[in-house]
Amino acid sequence: MIYFDNGATSFPKPAQVGTAIMAALAAPASPGRSGHAPAMAAGRTIHRARKALAKLFGLKENGRICFGPNITWALNLALMGLSLEKGQHVLSGSLEHNSTARPLAKLKAEKGLDWEIVPARQGQLWAEDFAKLIRPETKLVVLNHASNVSGALAPARAIKKAIGQVPLLLDTAQTAGSVDLDEAGSWVDLLAFTGHKGLLGPTGTGGLWVGPNINLRPCLVGGSGSRSESLEHPDFLPDALEAGTANTHGLAGLAAGVEYILQVGRESIRAHELSLTQDFLKEIIKIDELTLLGPGPGQSERVATVSINLKGWSSSDLAGALERDYGILTRAGLHCAPLSHQALGTFPGGSVRFSFGPFNKPEEIKIGVKALKSLARQKG
Ligand SMILES: Cc1ncc(COP(=O)(O)O)c(C=O)c1O
Repeated sequence: MIYFDNGATSFPKPAQVGTAIMAALAAPASPGRSGHAPAMAAGRTIHRARKALAKLFGLKENGRICFGPNITWALNLALMGLSLEKGQHVLSGSLEHNSTARPLAKLKAEKGLDWEIVPARQGQLWAEDFAKLIRPETKLVVLNHASNVSGALAPARAIKKAIGQVPLLLDTAQTAGSVDLDEAGSWVDLLAFTGHKGLLGPTGTGGLWVGPNINLRPCLVGGSGSRSESLEHPDFLPDALEAGTANTHGLAGLAAGVEYILQVGRESIRAHELSLTQDFLKEIIKIDELTLLGPGPGQSERVATVSINLKGWSSSDLAGALERDYGILTRAGLHCAPLSHQALGTFPGGSVRFSFGPFNKPEEIKIGVKALKSLARQKG
């Protein structure tokens, strides 16, 4: 098997991740509840996850990182928790995933939110296009940091500079763990992350870092292990946004995944992934029957995700042939991102997405190229 579907979830995980999950499972403890030793240790495990993430994102403190099941939860919490009202204006890019597009569409339909989409030009988003559309009613800019379809990286820092005081909600699903998010606190207001992709943790983990100038209304209230004498949910972070027992087992794995990244070095993971991507792009671009959706060879404003179509093949048939004939796992279709495919001109057929990760090897890239060349000839 060759795994080129790291954009969906990363595989394999570092060995430490499994070890940490098994150790957490073996402990009789619920964090932040009982006062006995294993419960205190479980609390420290979760603290380790917060500390590791704060280090990776260059955040000064970790108490504003709130954990939940995935980035979809985090993005919904941010969008719903801001209590956006009728007539207020929100901008998003046109390369958004449904995890922001659907909540925004719901807020538009149910609350009368004025949601405006900034179009991509040449497959990219441009800071000046955001700046032009800011108006006094603009309450938020929502940005997918890197397209999960084309791999194009958005100029997030430049966009924040261009929008000034308007808060930026950043979807880092495809960038956290490889792309530079250093000192995120100085240019992001709400940072949403998922644990199971580039952060190398297990599914069921994710979260939201809430900037000091942002107040979110909790979507859930209940047990928090704090202020138990009151019927009012605590209003301090992270407890305010973390009702119910935490996923200790998953967060133990996430802590180990992020600690692995810190140990190996985010920059070296990024360099490795970009090198594989450039090797792949340089070869596949020579295939006459192939259409590439995103940035081409030599362009570094991208992540290790490459979407293509081959003449004569539907995306699902091509992904099926790659798996059946070559054992290569990719993802076909719309990638939960119909807006992106509309922007890139591949709606509704979609594309086949190759997404590389820290553990892919150059030999695997060569096999992928060979497979595409051969499948192109079959229908060419
Ligand atoms: C850009 C982007 N945002 C959000 C998500 C949603 O991630 P999760 O399913 O972990 O919530 C994905 C996952 O594919 C994604 O690629």
